[in-house]
Amino acid sequence: MRVIETIPELRSELDAIRATGRSVGVVPTMGALHAGHASLVDQAVAGCDAVVVTVFVNPLQFAAGEDLGSYPRSLDSDVRLAGDHGAALVFAPDEAEMYPRGREAVLTQVRVEGLSNRWEGASRPTHFAGVCTVVAKLLHIVGPCRAFFGEKDFQQLTIIRAMVADLSFPVEVVGCPTIREPDGLAMSSRNVHLSASHRAQATVLSQALVAVAGAYATGERDVSELVRIAMERIAAAPDAEPDYVAIVDPTTLDPVTMAQDDSRVLVAVRFGSTRLLDNAPIRSEDAA
Ligand code: PAJ
Repeated sequence: MRVIETIPELRSELDAIRATGRSVGVVPTMGALHAGHASLVDQAVAGCDAVVVTVFVNPLQFAAGEDLGSYPRSLDSDVRLAGDHGAALVFAPDEAEMYPRGREAVLTQVRVEGLSNRWEGASRPTHFAGVCTVVAKLLHIVGPCRAFFGEKDFQQLTIIRAMVADLSFPVEVVGCPTIREPDGLAMSSRNVHLSASHRAQATVLSQALVAVAGAYATGERDVSELVRIAMERIAAAPDAEPDYVAIVDPTTLDPVTMAQDDSRVLVAVRFGSTRLLDNAPIRSEDAA
């Protein structure tokens, strides 16, 4: 397992791999790797000959006052996890390597209009431009055949798919299912910030998704009723502050008024200063 910190070194290493006819896959991350990230690496290793895990806490996607400073960092254990799951390389650049003129001097940013302004984008207006800019950069640096992203961040995945299609990036975007704790909480690097009480209450997000799926399976299609059911579940947690519950078209992220198969339920809930996200598709076969 090699840890590479510079763009030229990574490019020459990957050129050598490609020269032998091996395919390259990439798993972009911000580190603090957990079993959710590991499942992305597993899928990448299953589908590509050499897998690069990138670890970079991207300052461009954090607004002033967000948790850039307190974002968990654990490169040594990240490298171990990536290696244990069969990654060939970890790319862990510092900020100067990615933004040599400083983050304020990044003049070129990738903005995916429309999709980026709502849901997460409504409370974080510059977030997705920061995500798209760094993902575009990482895809250009690595040049993978396939790039693996989690459905956990469904809006992010949808936006990256749109960017890759609109700008004809020569890469296949692979969406991977959400990995959960045994009690249903979606794994996230930010879960470590939850107090014991908030951690216990945080199960209401996945419970709300299950409740919506259950109501849909028994025939409920009216979105206002499905949202009410989700909100009722979330309200069972005394400290939960719901930000939004929405049922959307999975490609446009437009809200729908009547739910149908493959509509996506999105939830965002705050516990203190920690914001948690979750989402799930709804399908009638979930009735079983
Ligand atoms: P990060 O939050 O580290 O997540 C890296 C990847 O892991 C993302 O594709 C995310 O959706 C996926 N992931 C996180 N938790 C998961 C879970 N429980 N199950 C399955 N996949 C999960 O998302 C980012 O970093 C950044 O925005 C990034 C794309 C790297 C750009 O900086």
